Amino acid sequence: MTAQSETTGPLTTEAGAPVADNQNSQTAGVGGPVLVQDQLLLEKLAHFNRERIPERIVHARGAGAYGTFTVTADVTPYTRAAFLSEIGKQTEVFLRFSTVAGNLGAADAVRDPRGFALKFYTEEGNYDLVGNNTPVFFIKDAIKFPDFIHTQKRDPYTGSQEADNVWDFWGLSPESTHQVTWLFGDRGIPASYRHMDGFGSHTFQWTNEAGEVFWVKYHFKTDQGIECLTQDEADVLAGKDPDSHQRDLRESIERGDYPSWTVSVQIMPAAEAASYRFNPFDLTKVWPHADYPCVEIGKLELNRNPENIFAEVEQSIFSPHHFVPGIGPSPDKMLQGRLFAYGDAHRYRVGINADHLPVNRPKAGEARSHGRDGVMYDGRHGRAKNYEPNSFGGPFETGRPLWEPLPVSGVTGEHEAPAHAEDDDFVQAGNLYRLMSEDEKERLIGNLAGFIAQVSRDDIAQRAIENFRRADEDYGKRLEAAVGALRG
Ligand code: HEM
Repeated sequence: MTAQSETTGPLTTEAGAPVADNQNSQTAGVGGPVLVQDQLLLEKLAHFNRERIPERIVHARGAGAYGTFTVTADVTPYTRAAFLSEIGKQTEVFLRFSTVAGNLGAADAVRDPRGFALKFYTEEGNYDLVGNNTPVFFIKDAIKFPDFIHTQKRDPYTGSQEADNVWDFWGLSPESTHQVTWLFGDRGIPASYRHMDGFGSHTFQWTNEAGEVFWVKYHFKTDQGIECLTQDEADVLAGKDPDSHQRDLRESIERGDYPSWTVSVQIMPAAEAASYRFNPFDLTKVWPHADYPCVEIGKLELNRNPENIFAEVEQSIFSPHHFVPGIGPSPDKMLQGRLFAYGDAHRYRVGINADHLPVNRPKAGEARSHGRDGVMYDGRHGRAKNYEPNSFGGPFETGRPLWEPLPVSGVTGEHEAPAHAEDDDFVQAGNLYRLMSEDEKERLIGNLAGFIAQVSRDDIAQRAIENFRRADEDYGKRLEAAVGALRG
């Protein structure tokens, strides 16, 4: 629908009656008080008051676009997912990019991970891959997520993000050292949503027709090339053009310069997981490519802007529990927590019928659940029976789970995820630091020191620096000197 299609005919009330005067409210005589009988005025004020829904508790600020995913390799030995079944097969997608900590109106050009939430409208239902532009994350257990996010968001007293809270939490959560090194390095502020990679980040299960299990990690490599901003460049841009990333995405699609990503997966046969040198389900770790190379499987292109940001971007919902046959979760404790958190957020933020909105509903096949009614139900099921089993030709269960069962052992309890031979909180952070050029190290130290120097307590600053020292002696030494110089 275009804006033009709505402009013909008289203006009406919400109930469709023609409006005589949209400039002057009704008063008791000239210059007198306003009348309750002016229902147009009341309706406009009341509707306006209810225009906003709760913003996302994280990733509130974002932009989205539609596009196409095209399969470029035969992956049927690894997954029976129908949308991946043939080279050349195309699936419509919707992708929402975002920052994490800022509120809805926050600036785009900030140091923060970027969300990379992708919905595949497959013939077997919607498959959502709700990832980031980083391959790892700050923590490895969902139980820490609300605390972590509280430190990124506004302090209850000052109303601002506070260096004390951020560094207190990171210092006390050494597993964050790898992701923090990534975030304060050169890739921490992408120049646009088009000039960054995307990752599924977690390990997911793929299962083929024979029921064999593979663990996979998704990579989306930008075809535009990586482009980033320095802290100084970002500070200027965030002030001059807070919507820089959103505008860049929309304008590039409007001029036909469609952004694309080359999609690949790392594939680990299930039998190799137990003896792998790192816990393959630990979200703070990557699988080095030397161990599991990236296998190219597809192309992602964005080529259509949403017509209405509220309807299609604000009300879009993505959930890590939206799987299709042949794809499932791994035992990653973060992913397991996310399987609950998103559906719950959607029911609160958009409502129980969020799945039925045009941007969210499956496209190739209609949903056939017995979920009914609730706020804003549109009666789509008509007179169809709302229970199962039934004798009236209703939809039926398939008897085949989407993914294969996970082996378990031991007793229930608050267990840490098991550590494998080379696991600790620092090894991969140190490796990342040592990979950097001297210039990159300089910028990383400068970015970190500028933030740590704002911490009000020496013990919090010292504890934070200590984690980087444990990753690499030189890293810690230089950071300590840089923070010391700034703190005087
Ligand atoms: C246990 C840890 C996590 C929890 C509990 C959690 C929870 C949430 C919640 C409640 C939302 C808002 C959803 C909405 O209102 O629609 C959200 C958004 C999002 N999260 Fe997470 N999250 C976690 C970790 C992660 C990780 C590890 C990633 C990436 C690898 C991630 C990526 C995203 C993205 C991209 C969005 C925005 C989705 C959109 O565009 O609508 N989150 N998260």
